Amino acid sequence: MALFDVDPHHPDTSVITRAADILRAGGLVAFPTETVYGLGANALNADAVARIFDAKARPAWNPVIAHVNTVDEARALTTSWPAIATVLAKAFWPGPLTLVLPKHESVPDIVSAGLPAVAIRIPSHPVARALIAALGAPIAAPSANRFTELSPTTAAHVQESLGDRIDMILNGGPSDVGIESTVVDLTGAMPVLLRPGVISREMLTNATGVSVSLAQDDVRDNTPRHSPGMVERHYAPHADVWLFAGDDLHEMQQSITKEFPVESGRMSALVLDWSLSLPEHVRVIRMPNDPLAYARMLYATLHDLDQDGFTVVAIERPPARDAWAGIHDRLNRAAR
Ligand code: TXA
Ligand code: MG
Repeated sequence: MALFDVDPHHPDTSVITRAADILRAGGLVAFPTETVYGLGANALNADAVARIFDAKARPAWNPVIAHVNTVDEARALTTSWPAIATVLAKAFWPGPLTLVLPKHESVPDIVSAGLPAVAIRIPSHPVARALIAALGAPIAAPSANRFTELSPTTAAHVQESLGDRIDMILNGGPSDVGIESTVVDLTGAMPVLLRPGVISREMLTNATGVSVSLAQDDVRDNTPRHSPGMVERHYAPHADVWLFAGDDLHEMQQSITKEFPVESGRMSALVLDWSLSLPEHVRVIRMPNDPLAYARMLYATLHDLDQDGFTVVAIERPPARDAWAGIHDRLNRAAR
């Protein structure tokens, strides 16, 4: 496996060409996006996409996202393009939004895990965009981690998890958004939020004038839609994650102090409340009280704690507001 540093804003053409050649030959290239690092293959080559599933040990039922550079390229992967897709694309592409639309037959079934719909995203990261352009085809890319593990927000995270299983890693520095894209299903009469992210439900509703329902609320026609990838334990660090409500910090303080005497393992706490007083042997990490800044450092912080051998992470839940929904979702999954 070769690791290449690339300037995140002006990636070196010769490196991008080399990466695109690997993709064209059916290989796997991990590359930075603004959300998390992706594990890329030529989306139109079913054998290449199959290698993604092998490398990640990803179950065959879990579909991957096709990354493109333009709305025309996105439309070409679909059989219908509702007006709301145009509105959402104008408002949020390029960026951390994925749209699920009826799949065109030119997209191999393995990309959508046999589903009749395909997930599509236009990323904003210049390295991702340059790679898509150089390949001249959509790039299928899930997050570049083994199944159920935390998503990578740096090239080092990718190397640790998949270094021996892929052909190339492009190192474009840390991902700016830090958690995976918001996924919206547009195949039904109303849009459905399949995975929350930093683009919130309120932002989607404001942009479209249509209320966006949550996957689990969508039972109107008795066919609740969902994202196959939203499995229970996912996005999880190796450490046990304990969640505490922000209005019950007394309990957090008590549990940590009582249940974690010095000898019982390496304990850390992610807190928003700077006044919390915790025992000295607990590594306390102050998290920003802003959802974007929090998202940017969440996975990197959890990766670091794993690396340092912490066995428990106690986390103060952020406020119960819509803007924090993506963070709550990832914390809940990590704690299961
Ligand atoms: O930010 C992101 O979305 C990153 C970067 C690399 O773009 N990618 C990513 O991919 O997070 P992945 O595979 O880890 O998550 C994709 C999610 C999964 O929950 C998957 O089940 C869902 O999107 N998904 C993909 N295709 C789908 C489809 N056809 N219908 C419903 N859900 C789909
Ligand atoms: Mg993933």
